[in-house]
Amino acid sequence: MRTVEPIRWTSEGVVLLDQRRLPGEVLYRTYTDYRELAQAIKDMVIRGAPAIGVAAAMGVALGVERSKAKTVDDMRAEFAVICETLARTRPTAVDLFWAIERFRRRFADLAREAETDGSGDSASALARIRAALVKEAQKVHQERREADERIGRFGAELLPKSGRVMTQCNAGALATGGIGTALGVIRTAVEGGYRIEVLVPETRPFLQGARLTAWELHQDHIPLTLITDNMVGHFLKTGGIGAVVVGADRIARNGDTANKIGTYGIAVLANEHRVPFYVAAPISTLDLSIPSGEQIPIEERSAEEVTHLAGVRISPDVRAAHPAFDVTPARLITAIITERGVARPPYEESLAALAGVRGEG
Ligand code: MRU
Repeated sequence: MRTVEPIRWTSEGVVLLDQRRLPGEVLYRTYTDYRELAQAIKDMVIRGAPAIGVAAAMGVALGVERSKAKTVDDMRAEFAVICETLARTRPTAVDLFWAIERFRRRFADLAREAETDGSGDSASALARIRAALVKEAQKVHQERREADERIGRFGAELLPKSGRVMTQCNAGALATGGIGTALGVIRTAVEGGYRIEVLVPETRPFLQGARLTAWELHQDHIPLTLITDNMVGHFLKTGGIGAVVVGADRIARNGDTANKIGTYGIAVLANEHRVPFYVAAPISTLDLSIPSGEQIPIEERSAEEVTHLAGVRISPDVRAAHPAFDVTPARLITAIITERGVARPPYEESLAALAGVRGEG
């Protein structure tokens, strides 16, 4: 199935589909400056944890490719600034930091190689590094696509063969650059002949459900029903929902999962009504350095996204809160679907095994 492409590396620059304009307008923007690309991540021109990772990878590559540095040494200091700028965009999505760390290591290796072979202060060494980092960014994108396909296959086996499945936010092609994680699972199931209807909560305040998931599924002729966020409990109680499947922004060592605000409430209600609750995410979304969800930084976004809708004020001029994510405790999660297989509780062990981390002793 061909899906929409939210990000692409081109010789003109990094092309992003402006997700703030969807579904009304399909507008692509080309970025030639990594600082503008960083701002685009912050402003949610591109969003969704895995896609943010791809954007960060391309952002670093873009910064190095377009830099005026003449030698590897000149590039070193600028490289640190590029990474820092991109790291200061969205604090919760760990894929952002995963991608930046990968590029820091790659750059250090390439710079060391140039030093060892004595070409460190030549322009050709820097040209080689530039080309290698562009290739690395394209590789990150390709890996996302492959991970989504595998997540889709593992996850589809867990869904009911027919009936309703609920999701939250947008964990689709727009959020990954592949077929999506949660929506990748649904897409794979539908392609395999499952007769599924997707219940899509609108996902206030940014409306990723109403604007993006509904658009994506509609484009692909996957049956859906859009609901408002406050209908979630009603439908989980009465709506014959066979499963909930959502994406993730960061998964702690014990399986606690940060995802779009509202996910925690859905998980509690799914648990109350004995509906299996699945998280679908690539290994890059695991953060095994933190023991639990308590250590996950929650992004606080502008209150204006709550007090205004499409630029129109909907509340009096009062204080409004906008935590962009919440944390679902591991005990409410039936399974975590990754490209390396399905993790079940206890997650401390199953996630470490999938990540290839050896336990102590
Ligand atoms: O604020 P957003 O739109 O970037 O939040 C996105 C989500 O919460 C997604 O569910 C998550 O990143 C997984 S995307 C495959």
